[in-house]
Amino acid sequence: MMRQILVTSALPYANGSIHLGHLVEYIQTDIWVRFQKMQGHDVYYVCADDTHGTPVMLRADAEGISPCDLIERVHGEHTRDFAGFHVAFDNYYTTDSPENRAFCEDIYLRLDASNLIDRRSVEQFYDPVKQMFLPDRYIKGECPKCHSKDQYSDSCEVCGSTYTPTDLIEPYSSVSGAKPERKASEHHFFRLSDERCEAFLRSFTQSGERLQPEAANKMKEWLGEEGESTLSDWDISRDAPYFGFAIPGTDGQKFFYVWLDAPVGYFGSFANYVEQQKAAGNAIDQDSFLRPGGNTELVHFIGKDILYFHALFWPAMLEFAGYRTPTKVFAHGFLTVDGQKMSKSRGTFITAESYLQQAMNPEWLRYYYAAKLNSTMEDIDLNLDDFIARVNSDLVGKYVNIASRCAGFIIKRFDGHLAAATAKDNPVIGDLQAQADAIGALYDAREYGKALREVMLLADKANAFVDANKPWELAREEGQEDKLQQVCSDGLNMFRLLTIYLKPVLPVVAENVEKFLGISSLTWADTQSLLPGGHRINKYKHLMTRVDRKQIDALVAANTESLEPTPQSHSRQRHAQHQENVVEKNTQESKPEEEPFITIDDFAKVELRVAKIVGAQHVEGADKLLKLTLDIGSETRQVFAGIKSAYDPEALKGRLTVMVANLKPRKMRFGESQGMVLAASGDGPGIFLLSPDDGAQPGMEVR
Ligand code: 2FM
Ligand code: ZN
Repeated sequence: MMRQILVTSALPYANGSIHLGHLVEYIQTDIWVRFQKMQGHDVYYVCADDTHGTPVMLRADAEGISPCDLIERVHGEHTRDFAGFHVAFDNYYTTDSPENRAFCEDIYLRLDASNLIDRRSVEQFYDPVKQMFLPDRYIKGECPKCHSKDQYSDSCEVCGSTYTPTDLIEPYSSVSGAKPERKASEHHFFRLSDERCEAFLRSFTQSGERLQPEAANKMKEWLGEEGESTLSDWDISRDAPYFGFAIPGTDGQKFFYVWLDAPVGYFGSFANYVEQQKAAGNAIDQDSFLRPGGNTELVHFIGKDILYFHALFWPAMLEFAGYRTPTKVFAHGFLTVDGQKMSKSRGTFITAESYLQQAMNPEWLRYYYAAKLNSTMEDIDLNLDDFIARVNSDLVGKYVNIASRCAGFIIKRFDGHLAAATAKDNPVIGDLQAQADAIGALYDAREYGKALREVMLLADKANAFVDANKPWELAREEGQEDKLQQVCSDGLNMFRLLTIYLKPVLPVVAENVEKFLGISSLTWADTQSLLPGGHRINKYKHLMTRVDRKQIDALVAANTESLEPTPQSHSRQRHAQHQENVVEKNTQESKPEEEPFITIDDFAKVELRVAKIVGAQHVEGADKLLKLTLDIGSETRQVFAGIKSAYDPEALKGRLTVMVANLKPRKMRFGESQGMVLAASGDGPGIFLLSPDDGAQPGMEVR
């Protein structure tokens, strides 16, 4: 069935650069969108800069430019960075737009008409020099517990205690240095505590699988027991001067708080896209996406730190203002680099711009992130050694390798012409085609890591086919022309199928493959066809280079700042900007730097597989070793194991064990050992080979 989907990623703030942490989300969303488009669905992927609020205003002020000039400049930078990573928005707009203003006013007036807006007095810090109200995070002072100076208004970085802003001793404004005053003014609130909101949000968050299970549970905690909602009303206004939209009926004195107009910016961006399309002669039924009752989906990709806004405030606003509510809210975790939070002093707070400036291939990062991503809110780790190893082994060693081993013979010996390939004659082709639905389902479910593991198993099969048929030997033998052409044509058909499976992740590689194979843009349905006999391919150009360790070193060096990040660093700002509304602490802020544990990602580097011992023999001249031949499904391995004292080779044949399949091959006196089998031993005598339970099959991964 044809789907119509409006997809969004969270809107990045217009006062900072895009970094590798941001890119987890945009790459994750872009892969999903590209996959859905390959299925033939109607998908619109919109985003925008999140331009309003105090930080943008103060930053522009500090630079001596107007907020409008600042957001225009940053819009250019963000657009460049996203394009550099092949994030293909259908529209990348701004929240400072007439469309967004109109939606915000409409939503506010409708909520007001439904008696869901309250007005009451609020006391806040006021900077008498700047003549403006300041969010608490701009107030600093002495810790009331340990008396350390220059601490934030919510917690002390020296003794770790938390307190309320009014507890600070000798508070001062970090903007002007002035002593802040406490001043009251009227604020507008969205009455989330109203029982209509509570009833709606209970049902919205707990039914229809709109949220991931762990997110739904979190919401349940936040909503409290039935009938005793813990939701408080939400303060949606800020006093002038403020960079944002004035609230209707306040004479320009009150503005919408940035977090009200930010998500509405999704709709503003979409409406702007619909206008552009209309001008180009393409009609899109906007209401079917923005009003209830349409047969369309609204899907938000966000970080777990802004779940509260997207699963509570935003849907409630929409519901009671007569708009449609989200179909899905997909939250992902934070990025760590080498197991730790990104750090400017370690050079792991890496900007998108610097990555591209080092001439690093953006598709390496897209692949690596995809290989790590799943549908949960777990954090993902960019391990720089693993990045090099995985990209080089999977993309260059397995995938591209197939084309580079087959293309040359077809070009040189057959003038680019392929022999007809069929799944009937070559079951490996059938195996590859048969996985289309399974891999598609994994992409749809955002289980990209699992999808790519499947794809790499298929690449292993394709390589095993080429290895077994050795085109380089056929090319030297008399009378093997037909077989050579067939083997290479089959190999290239396998390569084409793998390209389809990788296309959502590697769009530029896929485009180059399409040129090389001389075919039009590949869709998912193309997995069920093959290149016809006689089809002519073009000259093969190298599709991807290997990551060089030197590039990573240069990237880290380019991002290393000699000083520790200042308290105004991006992550602190981002956290602080949310803390007014978010109950939970951002775990990224409190992660200990060193832990006596390995992470699940460290463990995941070890590829353990069930192996069947198909051969076992004594090794002449070795008193401890047995030579084992192990079947791991897609290939066989030769391993020298120090288990001679405990096992008779004959008795081992046919039994299953577990091997480390990605151990670097080691040259030994007796030959190459290509892995390691696992055995237990203690202080006393005895070596005990591990065995899986009944039912395990050779090649199964042990995790
Ligand atoms: O957390 C952030 O970076 C916000 N700028 C995200 C806004 S998403 C949406 F609500 F607009
Ligand atoms: Zn303290």
